[in-house]
Amino acid sequence: RHLHQTISEAKSSATDDIIKVKGWVKSFRQHKNVGFLDVNDGSCTTPLQVVISEELINTPELTFGSCVEISGKMSKSSGKEQKTELMASHVTVLGSARLSDNPLQPKRHSMEFLRTIPHLRPRTNFFSSMFRIRSTVSLSVHNFFAQRGFHCVHTPLITSNDSEGGAEVFHVGSRPSDKAAAEHFFGRQAYLTVSGQLEAEVMAASLGRVYTFGPTFRAEKNSHTTRHLAEFWMVEPEMSFADLNDVMELSEEFVKTLILDVKEKCAEDLAFFAKWQDQTLMSTIDNVLNGPFQRISYTQAMDILTLAHPKEKFEAKPAYGNDLSREHEKYLCEGHFNKPVFVFDWPRKIKPFYMKVNEDGETVACVDLLLPRVGELIGGSAREDDVQTLLESMRRNGVKEDELAWYVDLRKYGSSPHAGFGLGFERFLMFITGTQNIRDTIAMPRYPAKCVR
Ligand code: 4AD
Ligand code: MG
Repeated sequence: RHLHQTISEAKSSATDDIIKVKGWVKSFRQHKNVGFLDVNDGSCTTPLQVVISEELINTPELTFGSCVEISGKMSKSSGKEQKTELMASHVTVLGSARLSDNPLQPKRHSMEFLRTIPHLRPRTNFFSSMFRIRSTVSLSVHNFFAQRGFHCVHTPLITSNDSEGGAEVFHVGSRPSDKAAAEHFFGRQAYLTVSGQLEAEVMAASLGRVYTFGPTFRAEKNSHTTRHLAEFWMVEPEMSFADLNDVMELSEEFVKTLILDVKEKCAEDLAFFAKWQDQTLMSTIDNVLNGPFQRISYTQAMDILTLAHPKEKFEAKPAYGNDLSREHEKYLCEGHFNKPVFVFDWPRKIKPFYMKVNEDGETVACVDLLLPRVGELIGGSAREDDVQTLLESMRRNGVKEDELAWYVDLRKYGSSPHAGFGLGFERFLMFITGTQNIRDTIAMPRYPAKCVR
């Protein structure tokens, strides 16, 4: 056989097979009369070892980073690292890479430096493992919902609503070529979506159980953090005939299933992160899998934090009516419970208009899931299904009724109790890889003052 095959296939071919592979040189160790190349093409974590004989060692342009085509015979390896290796008989350099000015050098670069070369960093071990895991988790998301009777729906990226309030939206639709600056392509102000939820509710009112998984955009003022992106991906299931308990149950099952899938399908990539990124990664992950997540109300959370405050000296004093700060989240799921924590029933005043008002009239049926290391991973709620209460909440939150008449219609005609949540995809990737900065979980991160390539 003389077929081109992936490195992954090549590694599992039998000894004495004649094969041809293509890939990039990951390292080149040159001895007196023999050379060892590590070649990979992204199909697997560990490269294929290629033995280069004395005659081939001086192939011009055979350097770190170059793109090569190699044919030869698979043989038993005497090295400890691999069972087989490729004895090269022909080496062709398809694309050379001059080492002297290559921004990527065969050494460990800092994450800060790599962020300045997003077009080259996918070639590093860290980022190729990250993006293989990202790919696997994407597919797991679809499988999870497909297995539970959810329909995949595609919600628009350009919208006319700001579902979460706070106007943290990017404006779109103005045409610079138009003479009148006020003239918009859409005849009105439009935005990049901050969440597909409202449109997912439209679909759930017909299809029952739906989910959407796509990019969302936020122009948050305080997003210079290691946990915020201006463009991030969100998984948003929406279920008719469901309540807040269903949201918590499904979220927990969802998070655990994604983790198990990564452990099973990306064992080598995960081992890479456990070795180089975070040596406590596997125990942190297993701790989440072992046992049920904690469930506490917002009031209980505030009580716990208030009691802890004198000793913990939180920068923000915990106070009923305020959001949880990062240090509060951290204390709850790392310091106090040491496991994922659902915080439910938050004050109505600090939450968006669409959440279902509880009987007390003061709180809404919503929940945040806090995960060790990353903090808030999921936000969800039961949606207000009573038309009058919804209209009142819209007035309170300054949401114009005529702007969202279509959303109110869902309650006027065949309203159903329904609920859903949103999981921040990159926050999940941070957790599963032990990565400190969300900017290193997505290929081309967008954040304040950064939109290159
Ligand atoms: O809590 P959020 O704002 O909830 C919603 O948007 C709801 N409409 C979701 C729903 O019920 N369908 O966002 C959901 C999750 C957060 O918990 C967080 O993990 C992630 O999205 N997230 C971000 N991730 C990265 N960068 C940002 N700027 C993010 N903002 C939210
Ligand atoms: Mg939230």
